[in-house]
Amino acid sequence: MTASSQEPAAPPVSGPRLRAALDGIPAYSPGRPAGQEPGSFKLSSNENPYPPLPGVLETAVAAMSSLNRYPDMSAAALFEALAEHFAVPAGHLALGTGSVGIAQQLIQATAGPGDEVIYAWRSFEAYPIITQISGATSVRVPLTATEEHDLPAMADAITDRTRLIFVCTPNNPTGRAIRRAGLTAFLDRVPADVLVVLDEAYREFVRDEQVPDGLELYRERPNVCVLRTFSKAYGLAGMRVGFAVAHEPVAAALRKTAVPFGVSQAAQNAAIASLRAEDALLARVDALVAERGRVAARLAEQGWTVPESQANFVWLRLGEDTSAFAAACEAAGVTVRPFAGEGVRVTVGETEANDIVLRVAGEFRAARGNV
Ligand SMILES: Cc1ncc(COP(=O)(O)O)c(C=O)c1O
Repeated sequence: MTASSQEPAAPPVSGPRLRAALDGIPAYSPGRPAGQEPGSFKLSSNENPYPPLPGVLETAVAAMSSLNRYPDMSAAALFEALAEHFAVPAGHLALGTGSVGIAQQLIQATAGPGDEVIYAWRSFEAYPIITQISGATSVRVPLTATEEHDLPAMADAITDRTRLIFVCTPNNPTGRAIRRAGLTAFLDRVPADVLVVLDEAYREFVRDEQVPDGLELYRERPNVCVLRTFSKAYGLAGMRVGFAVAHEPVAAALRKTAVPFGVSQAAQNAAIASLRAEDALLARVDALVAERGRVAARLAEQGWTVPESQANFVWLRLGEDTSAFAAACEAAGVTVRPFAGEGVRVTVGETEANDIVLRVAGEFRAARGNV
């Protein structure tokens, strides 16, 4: 008998061993695409309805002629442009494949099994996914009845295991943004060794002057990191480029955890060109903000409760009518974003698309009474 034949039989192999932390992770569900029929619209992903800003397409196409080359891994030109635009040191910047990529890097850099990540709920649906991937534990703090972050409760939830706190302002999907007094009172309660990530993906749409620019807060607090993206106001969702502003050593940790060459040269150049087209950007954002006001006002006239949105979408808490409302929109040619049993998020898009939603919303109320 050989030595090996005396060993206990190995359990049957069913495939590569995967980390148990991945079990039960909810799949990220992207907004449904627009229908196939002409005149169908997609209001399900908070995208910008406008085409790329002037000069952006040309620079992106030009970058394609060097597709055989890797992008500039140090993103020197984009960092220089961002540093100048936002008046921050280039060393405080980090780039990622969208701001969701950076959010994931931030968790990788701070939390693992046994650690806790706090965020409001409902909020951006990537937070639970990227937290679970890391093996850390999600601590979800329910929104208030007015669809806002419950910051005192979030501060109460901090323990000695807390490593990172996401603060999403304006909040996806409710649109509510956090005002200065509440946010600074909260930050004052967070221990210096806990990272607070101010996720400002929709910052450019904010018009409430009492809502602070996260960069103000980052400047005076080493444990605050600001996340921004080119995907929303800048209209580059397809390019996958976002950035963080954070003090050393957080910015350095982000550079360590980045996927090498993750942001293409076309994306880097498109981002620079978008920063340069600021006048056109501001005009488009103003138009979307005006349209947001029109949509919210009409919905309110119809009798809906619409939380004041500072982003490029509105939130309707439809509860058990959520799926029926989303289906009615889809039947009328517009896909929206339902969160089953909770509510529907509707991106402010093309006027024609917004008008369809308003018509459906009016009919829905008329048919169902007080929803
Ligand atoms: C709050 C929030 N943060 C981050 C993102 C990610 O955006 P991106 O990865 O395209 O930069 C989104 C996208 O929907 C979002 O709503």
